[in-house]
Amino acid sequence: MSGTDGVRVPSVKLNSSGSIPVLGLGTSRGTREAVEYAIDIGYRHFDSAYACRTEAEVEAAIEKKIQEGVVKREDLFVTTKLFNTFHRPELVLRAIQMSLAALKLGYVDLYLMHKPIAFKYIDDNPTIPKDANGNYLYNDVDTADTWKVESHAYLMQPDLFDYCKTNGIVLVAFASVGSPGRRNKTKDEAVLSEDPIVVKIAKRLGKRPSQIERGRIPIPRSTNPAHIKENIEVCDFDLTPADLAELGSLDRQLRFFGMAEHKNSPNFPYNDGK
Ligand SMILES: NC(=O)c1ccc[n+]([C@@H]2O[C@H](COP(=O)([O-])OP(=O)(O)OC[C@H]3O[C@@H](n4cnc5c(N)ncnc54)[C@H](OP(=O)(O)O)[C@@H]3O)[C@@H](O)[C@H]2O)c1
Repeated sequence: MSGTDGVRVPSVKLNSSGSIPVLGLGTSRGTREAVEYAIDIGYRHFDSAYACRTEAEVEAAIEKKIQEGVVKREDLFVTTKLFNTFHRPELVLRAIQMSLAALKLGYVDLYLMHKPIAFKYIDDNPTIPKDANGNYLYNDVDTADTWKVESHAYLMQPDLFDYCKTNGIVLVAFASVGSPGRRNKTKDEAVLSEDPIVVKIAKRLGKRPSQIERGRIPIPRSTNPAHIKENIEVCDFDLTPADLAELGSLDRQLRFFGMAEHKNSPNFPYNDGK
């Protein structure tokens, strides 16, 4: 699955069929060279989205690497997403066709609803898990194969994680390194990579803070080759139970993507403070 001398990233099986590499590259910004380099060093999982307008760049990089013989289409796992403006049933097919035209890959491996803010939670909907108190564990709901949600040491989502684990659903984590480059960042917000506990654990393991992950499938975005390389070198060490407990203690339900702009929507998903 890896390039000639790239890191070999394992995959995990999905409930329906196929499998997903346990680490991917986020491609929401400036991307062609990043994807090319990532393929060269072993990345096979790419997270794109129509709304980010980088599908064509992801395609150009993949096409180049296929032509060079580094990978085949079937070696890759490519995700894209249905944006909110295409939720009406009659628009969905058109949206998929637009993404496929930009990606030129014939098919995508995973098609997600990007921000399902208008998703209505009907009572006793059996497809949506609840926590021990009967509250819906809603987030970015997609399929029974994967849930892609914000997840990092400050937002561990243990109930959702346990539910997914029990049901064989793969939890894919965005903002896994704390999304330090996002546009709406505030000056005084917590910086995950500077957290003393994360720094301490990383130091002991001879790793960087961004490499301290805990069981989710991270899709860190980077255009910096050193970071792209660092982010894939996470399969050669284990966190101890004590590390996991310490990381667990950092959870403060801090969302970097709180979607505050939708706060007044009757279907705003985070009104319960989770
Ligand atoms: N479904 C959704 O609604 C949703 C929302 C947000 C994101 N996503 C997906 O998730 C991906 C990742 O999310 P994100 O970009 O918000 O958060 P992220 O991956 O946590 O953070 C990306 C930022 O971290 C920096 N970075 C990455 N690796 C680093 C390292 N090893 N050391 C230091 N800095 C590092 C990057 O800068 P450099 O380029 O300088 O490395 C970039 O500024 C996105 O690209 C997108 O594919 C999905």
